[in-house]
Amino acid sequence: MSTTRARDGMNRLHRVLTRALDVLRVEGGEHAPTWSDTERLNGYVLYARCTLDLLAAHHQSEDEIVFPFIQRDGPLPAVTALDAQHHAVEAALAQLRVRIGRLAGGGLDGPGRQAWRDAIATLRAAWDAHVVDEEAVFDAALVGLSPDDDAALAKRIDRHGRAHSGPGPVMLPFLLFNLTGSDRLDFEGRLPWILTGLLIPKMWARRWTPMRPFLVDC
Ligand SMILES: [Fe+2]
Ligand SMILES: [Fe+2]
Repeated sequence: MSTTRARDGMNRLHRVLTRALDVLRVEGGEHAPTWSDTERLNGYVLYARCTLDLLAAHHQSEDEIVFPFIQRDGPLPAVTALDAQHHAVEAALAQLRVRIGRLAGGGLDGPGRQAWRDAIATLRAAWDAHVVDEEAVFDAALVGLSPDDDAALAKRIDRHGRAHSGPGPVMLPFLLFNLTGSDRLDFEGRLPWILTGLLIPKMWARRWTPMRPFLVDC
């Protein structure tokens, strides 16, 4: 018997990030209301920061935990290629980080907004190519693990995510409300009631609800 908790968790994060990049592209479009509505712009900036922080933390967990695990018996060319793709994604990420401060201050003029959209498109292209290759490697290397090995790996990844992905009051709702269907049910089902019944909907609401226009069913 084997389980695929580690692989499924990583692939689910890919779906969160892919949706988030789509939202940033569409909602940052030339004629989107984001640019004329200050409240909406603030929510967009928070959503963009969550996206960049989650993507950076996700890649760090792969660099530090998942890729070494896959290569525990020696280097694999396919993982070396993924590592090179990480550098391309990080370069695109850096371009967005340079611009997000001015975006937050409402100081992006027409060409600045176009540069932001171009940087999103560049990141999205690098990300799409990377996800396809990476999920193929995960299918080959993270399927067929014993339940103990799989659970131990998934636990290390979860712990890393909690430590490095940013503040829970913002990041947990960002994760939860970018998921749909069975992904949402599965993720929500693993969270204790105190989070889903009290902290997220009530005590933390002021922190994350500016992102509401960009989230799903929240
Ligand atoms: Fe990944
Ligand atoms: Fe990756």
